[in-house]
Amino acid sequence: MSKKIKIGIIGAGSIGSVHANAYATLADAELYALCDILPERLAEKAALHNIGKTYENYEDLLADPQIEAVSVCVPNHLHAPIAIAAFKAGKHVMLEKPMTLNAKLGEDILAARDQAGKLLQMGMVWRQTPEAEVVKQAVDAGRLGEIYQIRVKLIRRRGIPGMGGWFTTKAMSGGGGLIDIAVHFLDLAMWTSGLWEPSKVSAKTYAKFGSPMKDYKYVNMWAGPPNYDGVFDVDDYATGLVRFGDKATLVFEVAWACNAEPESYIELLGDKGGVKVGMGDTTILTEVDGYIADVKLDYKAERDRFAAELDKFLLAIQGKGEVAASGEEGLVTMRLLDAIYKSSEENAEVEV
Ligand SMILES: NC(=O)c1ccc[n+]([C@@H]2O[C@H](COP(=O)([O-])OP(=O)(O)OC[C@H]3O[C@@H](n4cnc5c(N)ncnc54)[C@H](O)[C@@H]3O)[C@@H](O)[C@H]2O)c1
Repeated sequence: MSKKIKIGIIGAGSIGSVHANAYATLADAELYALCDILPERLAEKAALHNIGKTYENYEDLLADPQIEAVSVCVPNHLHAPIAIAAFKAGKHVMLEKPMTLNAKLGEDILAARDQAGKLLQMGMVWRQTPEAEVVKQAVDAGRLGEIYQIRVKLIRRRGIPGMGGWFTTKAMSGGGGLIDIAVHFLDLAMWTSGLWEPSKVSAKTYAKFGSPMKDYKYVNMWAGPPNYDGVFDVDDYATGLVRFGDKATLVFEVAWACNAEPESYIELLGDKGGVKVGMGDTTILTEVDGYIADVKLDYKAERDRFAAELDKFLLAIQGKGEVAASGEEGLVTMRLLDAIYKSSEENAEVEV
């Protein structure tokens, strides 16, 4: 039997628990240590996930030579310092999305990875959905032809997480709905289409629902109860046009909150076929033998996408595959997000 890889999870909040549950299903992983600055949460989650070692300071966890790899599951502003410290300590890093706050910090993470010679996998978990995988296969097989337009839509009616907490504080999150949720679908759009060279952006972000915070009406809220003494200085809606040279364009609309029905999908339009990814539908609108035809791609709907993602991380550590989403791809997405915010601020089209 091969040796299990000892894992440390840094950050015992919502996604830290999701990682713990997913690792627990994987034979090659040993859930070895957990870290959080909140002692009560740390004790509670360590007991819940049956993790023996606990640390209140991530530097102490990283100094533990038994640990081979870490999952970084902390608020966004801590992604870069903790990932860089982990590489310096010789660990492989599974880094939750978004990569970090901006592209400059993303470059620092890649430099630390390269110096350490360790692996970095980005938390782009939507790639692990069966729908996305089957569409990617269809694109790679040429079934859509040349993709010239992508539509990205990710609309929540009222879905701002942790009002007044770190999610809505720009210094800790880097931004609102755009950096928090559009990051997934912008990555998915580039990964499925293979268009990885965004060149120009014209975009606008808005903040219409977070201020004053007490007026925000919601049905439920995750990431903690609202903290009305906290900060809301981020976007809750963003829209824009991205150019990929003169070959292709992408239009996006993302909302943490707006007065519209919830929707979430990406749609790829090619000269041979078009397909939507999301809402469970993967029908290619195309032509067959001169007839207009709908070709339904069949896929197995059941999959724990986090387990699939972490399984790829473990296989990559063992030299049996590639990471599921690379740091270089993460950096392209960070550059695109930087450009979207810059375009909005300058009210102009900007270079990516
Ligand atoms: N892939 C996904 O679908 C997905 C979903 C949710 C969140 N995320 C990402 O995961 C990260 C965490 O989000 P969350 O929803 O779990 O937030 P959260 O607030 O629930 O949890 C964050 C945890 O980090 C802890 N923490 C803060 N500073 C720390 C430090 N210095 N050392 C150790 N622990 C520290 C906090 O005490 C908290 O328990 C974010 O970057 C978020 O964008 C990804």
